[in-house]
Amino acid sequence: MTSAHTTTGRPLRERVIALIDRGVSLPPLSPAAAQLIRILPQPIDRIDMRKLVELVQEDPTLSAHVLRLANSPFWGIRQSVSTVGLAVSLIGLQEVVGTLNYHLLRQLTPNVKRSAHFSPDAFWLHSWRGATAARLLGRPDLFVTCLPGQLYMAGLLHDIGKLILVLHFGEEWEACADEAATSGRPLHEVEQERMGVDHAEVGARQLEVWGLPDLIRVAVDWHHRPGELPEGPAREMASLIQFANAIAHACTAHEVGTVPVCPISETWLGMHKDHPLSDPVKREGIVHEVMAALLARERHLDDGEATNAAEEEPARPAPIAAPRPVELAPARPRVTRVGAAWRGGAHWLTRLRRLLLWS
Ligand SMILES: [Fe+2]
Repeated sequence: MTSAHTTTGRPLRERVIALIDRGVSLPPLSPAAAQLIRILPQPIDRIDMRKLVELVQEDPTLSAHVLRLANSPFWGIRQSVSTVGLAVSLIGLQEVVGTLNYHLLRQLTPNVKRSAHFSPDAFWLHSWRGATAARLLGRPDLFVTCLPGQLYMAGLLHDIGKLILVLHFGEEWEACADEAATSGRPLHEVEQERMGVDHAEVGARQLEVWGLPDLIRVAVDWHHRPGELPEGPAREMASLIQFANAIAHACTAHEVGTVPVCPISETWLGMHKDHPLSDPVKREGIVHEVMAALLARERHLDDGEATNAAEEEPARPAPIAAPRPVELAPARPRVTRVGAAWRGGAHWLTRLRRLLLWS
């Protein structure tokens, strides 16, 4: 077992903590998008649908995303959906809020260069898949009590720490990803060993700074080791994010940035004998169902997207080839995590959090 206090990782961990406050500029948002960002984090039953529709209609890019979503064959809507209001009434407010969250969060993050193990487009596609899969897993027959919106947000943000490490410690993170890919060891374990901190902890600490609910923060922190949490809502959410993450990774085995992750059958839910997902037949059925839904939905995602990827970004990742579970390396035991307060400063993430009003 490795420790955050290893000689190799400790100095780098201190640099991670010190440099996280470095400020970078945010891409500009339209006035409508800036207002939407204040509305979307509210519970779904408190969102004024009429106001939301008005604001989306003022932003051509967001309108196009919503209409593309509503006209996706996934919904089987026979008529052409040509207005945002009709889209909301036909596919539901929750679905529209989810896709707006994805596109706004993506618009707000700085440019990241593609590297051997990181592609911005693949990162955001994986985040979207994780978010959508997590929400789709929130079904009654799995005894899920977490709210769909919370599952979506936790899934969308589960690897946000990876983006932070890539942005500020690209070379060091790339070496971690390279070692993980070469050795077959889990990335978070290699990150802890080499950097003294892993992307789950980085993401969770940033969500704490943003003031996101504890449930989402803890789920992000433990999304690779949910079984180590005590029984309760946090373990439920963390284990669903781990399962959704495994499904999302199974979709991306051929894409840039692929590193070993816990196989679907070896996730905590997949191995927990009292959970329905430990039944191989039921699990396979649900995984295929979720992957088919992802395949159908993701077609609308990035067509015409004003991507924030670096200019030398090559073609987008290939779509999911077919719904099939992929088993990779086994899960590893937890590693020690060390706390540090990442507060203050004018870092872009802090500014983003202020915009989002998540505190
Ligand atoms: Fe992760």
